[in-house]
Amino acid sequence: MSSVSNMETFFWILSALSVVASEVHGANVCTSRGVTTCRQCLAIHPSCAWCHQEVFGQGVGVSRCDLKKNLLDGGCTEQGLEFPVSGFSMQENRQLSDKAYGTADEVTQIQPQKLTLTLRPDDAMRFEVKVKQAEDYPVDLYYLMDLSYSMNDDLVKLRDLGNLLATAMGKTTSNLRMGFGAFVDKTMSPYMYIYPPEAVQNPCYKRTNRCRPQFSYRNVLSLTDQVSRFTEEVGKQQVSGNRDSPEGGFDAVIQAVVCKDKIGWRADANHLLVFTSDDKTHSALDGRLAGVVQPNDGQCHIDQENLYDLSTTLDYPSLGLISDKLSENNIKLILAVTQNVVPLYQNYSQLIPLSYVGTLSDNSDNVIQLILNAYEKFRSKVDLELLGVPDELALSFNATCLNGELIQGVKSCSGLRTGDTVSFSVEASLRGCPKEKTRTFSIKPAGVKDTLEVTVNFACGCECEAAAQPESPLCNQGNGTYQCGVCQCHPGRLGGRCECAEGDYRTSDHDNCSPTPGDPVCSGRGECVCGQCTCHASSLGKVWGKYCDCDDYTCPRFNGEICSGNGQCSCGVCTCISDWTGPNCNCTQRKDTCGLGVGRLCSGRGVCVCGACQCNQPGAYGRTCEKCPTCPDACTMKKDCVECRHFKRGGLVEDNSCATICRDEIQQVEELGKTHYYKNSVNCTYKDEDDCVARFQYYEDDDGKSTLYVMELDCPKGPDILVVLMAVAGAILFLGLAGLLIWKLFVTLHDAKEFAKFQEEKAKAKWDTGNNPLYKGATSTFTNVTYRGNS
Ligand SMILES: *[C@@H]1O[C@H](CO)[C@@H](O)[C@H](O)[C@H]1NC(C)=O
Ligand SMILES: *[C@@H]1O[C@H](CO)[C@@H](O)[C@H](O)[C@H]1NC(C)=O
Ligand SMILES: *[C@@H]1O[C@H](CO)[C@@H](O)[C@H](O)[C@H]1NC(C)=O
Ligand SMILES: *[C@@H]1O[C@H](CO)[C@@H](O)[C@H](O)[C@H]1NC(C)=O
Ligand SMILES: *[C@@H]1O[C@H](CO)[C@@H](O)[C@H](O)[C@H]1NC(C)=O
Repeated sequence: MSSVSNMETFFWILSALSVVASEVHGANVCTSRGVTTCRQCLAIHPSCAWCHQEVFGQGVGVSRCDLKKNLLDGGCTEQGLEFPVSGFSMQENRQLSDKAYGTADEVTQIQPQKLTLTLRPDDAMRFEVKVKQAEDYPVDLYYLMDLSYSMNDDLVKLRDLGNLLATAMGKTTSNLRMGFGAFVDKTMSPYMYIYPPEAVQNPCYKRTNRCRPQFSYRNVLSLTDQVSRFTEEVGKQQVSGNRDSPEGGFDAVIQAVVCKDKIGWRADANHLLVFTSDDKTHSALDGRLAGVVQPNDGQCHIDQENLYDLSTTLDYPSLGLISDKLSENNIKLILAVTQNVVPLYQNYSQLIPLSYVGTLSDNSDNVIQLILNAYEKFRSKVDLELLGVPDELALSFNATCLNGELIQGVKSCSGLRTGDTVSFSVEASLRGCPKEKTRTFSIKPAGVKDTLEVTVNFACGCECEAAAQPESPLCNQGNGTYQCGVCQCHPGRLGGRCECAEGDYRTSDHDNCSPTPGDPVCSGRGECVCGQCTCHASSLGKVWGKYCDCDDYTCPRFNGEICSGNGQCSCGVCTCISDWTGPNCNCTQRKDTCGLGVGRLCSGRGVCVCGACQCNQPGAYGRTCEKCPTCPDACTMKKDCVECRHFKRGGLVEDNSCATICRDEIQQVEELGKTHYYKNSVNCTYKDEDDCVARFQYYEDDDGKSTLYVMELDCPKGPDILVVLMAVAGAILFLGLAGLLIWKLFVTLHDAKEFAKFQEEKAKAKWDTGNNPLYKGATSTFTNVTYRGNS
């Protein structure tokens, strides 16, 4: 074991010791990590404080790293508390200037100018930065001209440049200085003619006119406010010539940028560098053609003659180097190039933040307008630049540009006019702890001299660390370093006060470390140190208890989360947060998921258990048991939906709840079941208020999507008056006729019967005539009343 890991082990045991005996009082982010030092404690969370008081919480036990309130409640005094707080203070906060009146003295374009941040790890501070470009700010303009042969005609035009430029720029600044420089290319083959020998002196020897020998870059006129000097110097210029078509302009750019003193750039001015050319340009690595391999060093190399003297030693600069140097010196580059190379320079410009590309006419007669446009363009944009931000610090920005419009995540504003104020909200958060205690960085508008200097104090360490006592008597007669209230024991020593030696802790009084002799020592989750359990830290969570028998991760789980994520685990028991119950806190007491508030709870077909409906009516299903095609009341339930969805009437339409309650699809059909016969369907019929019969089929597919196939209403037809009248008349007629007929029949039958009787009588009468019953014989009989016969 190396001594480092040894140390770590002991720190770790120390930490565990302090955790062991602590009461199970509200574990929080500060106490749950088991940190051993003040510094570690501060790094956990900005709310954690450390108590470094010597006597605190009765010896080992209570965590010294806790929320400030808990420490104070636990008996720590304010003086014994180590609790740095993040904050910020402003050292310089001058008001922004409106106008510069041609001089940059006392001009302020960024506010504040100096501030100090104090940051705890993981903490963030926010501050505001305002930027305003002052009007009438001094301007330095350096004109860098390509003097290769093709620029001959331009040179003629530029004789008047000085005066025109001074007049034009006079509108934006009353303090203008102008300078002039010229370039061709490196004075070596293949960029230069070296044969025949006269070509060196006169590169235009093939043409009729004479021109000057080739040079790389010459500072012709340093910045001056004398316009006449400018005109004079430009007038003296002659073109030169080079051999290949790209020019060596970038060599000149870098020299003009970095030779601050030679060029005469003022610190307090807007710096414009105008680069004119009509051809491509050489850049980094092109020097290899001539065997120049030494990279450009970005330093000033202008000699007594005002010539760039290392042009044949150093390679051309890279775009990156140019960008860096421009931004370092607050110089804005205006690339005024002819039409043919505009796309190329535009591509360069994208890689050079402080640059602008304009199209130069063939004879440069539009260069003044071009410069004015570029200057306007630069002035219309504010872009914050960060210099020297420490890696541990994360900065984020929100910009408030014109009209108070907030743009998130950007640190620039465009479309501004001189005099507009923009503000940026900056949030600085500390992600780690650097070695230093403080660092300074700056924020500034790109291309402007004014900066905001931010000093960051990293509140990572504790003041009590300074008072550490090595070999302290408090740590068992010099067996450890006493620092911030705790002992950091020497290798081989253990315990809160280093009272145990490594050798004897395993054999020490084990009986104290298990509930009954024979049980695993410290529940197998810790070591018995000096008769006390030192629980092992677990990656799963905290372990504590006299026998390391408690922890905050052995609790009923659900869906892989301890206490379903709805409670705190403490020694095997879930303490649920409000609204949740059950041993694993997975049972919600909310009822809105059971349809409370929309209709009846579980549609009246079930009970709400832990936020879910348990449907108890056979055939019912769905989240709120709302689906049940085969329930006896299915037709009754869906009737309302048919009424409101299909016929657009009924109670649900009136209280506007149709859309929420009825989500079924509605289809009009000719006949039920003809095309839609499925087993999950039921046919329903009801009579509406008008006694019309509505028929529909309620069908649910396996996904629970329900459809209502509705037939046209079937209403009873109203009786037809004419038909009724005719029917009545017909009936009367019919009955009358029938009566007559019956009477006739009856009469006829009766007559027939009478006639028959007459006939019969008649026949009888004929027979009687022969034996007239009335005839009596002529015999008379007398009776002798006294005669009684023979007897
Ligand atoms: C400029 O960049 C674009 C896109 O990268 C490229 O297509 C184009 O060819 C470039 N133009 C020149 C002139 O290099
Ligand atoms: C930027 O705005 C967003 C949304 O308003 C906010 O959340 C964020 O904290 C802001 N950032 C800064 C640095 O102000
Ligand atoms: C460490 O502790 C042991 C045992 O208690 C003691 O003898 C010794 O003097 C202490 N000091 C050092 C420096 O070891
Ligand atoms: C809650 O957890 C128990 C046990 O794991 C499980 O049987 C039950 O279904 C869960 N209840 C809910 C509503 O998820
Ligand atoms: C519904 O009525 C149609 C047509 O009368 C019939 O074919 C179908 O079987 C009926 N469906 C049910 C479930 O009774």
